[in-house]
Amino acid sequence: MDYKVVAIDGPAGAGKSTIAKMVAEKIHYTYIDSGAMYRALTLKVLESKINLEDTDAIIEVSKKVDIDFKDRSIYLDKELVDKQIREERINKNVSTVAAIPEVRKNIVGIQRRIAIGKNVVMDGRDVGTVIFPNAFIKFFITASLVERSRRRCLEIQGTGKHADFEDVKNQIENRDYIDSHREDSPLIQADDAILIDTSGQSIEEGVQEVIKYISLHGGNRNAL
Ligand code: DC
Repeated sequence: MDYKVVAIDGPAGAGKSTIAKMVAEKIHYTYIDSGAMYRALTLKVLESKINLEDTDAIIEVSKKVDIDFKDRSIYLDKELVDKQIREERINKNVSTVAAIPEVRKNIVGIQRRIAIGKNVVMDGRDVGTVIFPNAFIKFFITASLVERSRRRCLEIQGTGKHADFEDVKNQIENRDYIDSHREDSPLIQADDAILIDTSGQSIEEGVQEVIKYISLHGGNRNAL
């Protein structure tokens, strides 16, 4: 059986995960959030009171950590941690943890294992370049920094919290910088990825665009 991977990469706040989830639903593929695994590892590191500068200790944790992703939920040591991995302390530190090459090697192993034997839509930063370089189809979804910051502010405000636009913009810019400048598998558009800019686009328009390309590639034609 020939399983297919739809790879969706791009910077923080571009709408990747929302689009990826909706696309997966429409074409009946399994959605996998590759960033959630770095977030779960970061949670484990913080809970273990490991200093973020102690790279060796972080690598050790990444070798043994029990991370799973099932039915759109992330489990750390068999415990559901969907909420915890979205906390501010994780947003602030995840890029540092994800920049360690040995950590990436271990997490990529987990990401490949979770996807095995399924048709999947996976979103992240290096899905099409490193995790699945032979993916059936690759997308690079982006949007302007201002647009991404505006969306993130709305998301925070939606949870009843206060969001300062400049603070949010600085944090996204900082995360983009670390993700794009790290030595190991930086965030870049794969040569064969289709670029989609969602600035000024609704989520539904983004979803339709992605599905149109999947269909043209011989994916699920019934989804159109
Ligand atoms: O998509 P996200 O914001 O949940 O990702 C969190 C962090 O994890 C992101 O700042 C970089 C890292 N990441 C990565 O390095 N490679 C991936 N495939 C996915 C995420």
